[in-house]
Amino acid sequence: MIALGCDHGGYELMQEVKAYLDSKGLEYKDFGCSSTEAVDYPVYARKVGNAILEGTCDKGILICGTGIGISIAANKMPGIRAALCTDCFCAEATRLHNDANVLAMGGRVVGPGLAVKIVDTFLNTPFSGEERHARRIHLIEHPEE
Ligand code: RB5
Repeated sequence: MIALGCDHGGYELMQEVKAYLDSKGLEYKDFGCSSTEAVDYPVYARKVGNAILEGTCDKGILICGTGIGISIAANKMPGIRAALCTDCFCAEATRLHNDANVLAMGGRVVGPGLAVKIVDTFLNTPFSGEERHARRIHLIEHPEE
């Protein structure tokens, strides 16, 4: 189950992402927002982050105007690894290396065609499981070790 969240700057691109997920038969929970009316992106970052941390969703997609604010907000939550991606190389690498559990994108940055390719890459690339990457991910949450 994929958790979706956006602000007004990401609303239109999120509709494209939802249409893509629908076309693939992929299940999601939409945590809003629900229009292009201005809202505060940290609210939606937290809703998606909480769904992942509670275990009701295993991955998330967050979209704001740039993808920056909403990824910064999500990354304040321990256990959330949100990756702001503008291309498929980064989407693949962040799954392989960082085991990112949230994909962030900018609705004013990437077009819908590229965005759905990024989503597809992110959702279909497994974590490599390599020891050096697992160790580095552990150090993100436990920097004193
Ligand atoms: C909203 O105008 C905009 O600031 C927001 O969508 C995002 O780009 C923030 O990082």
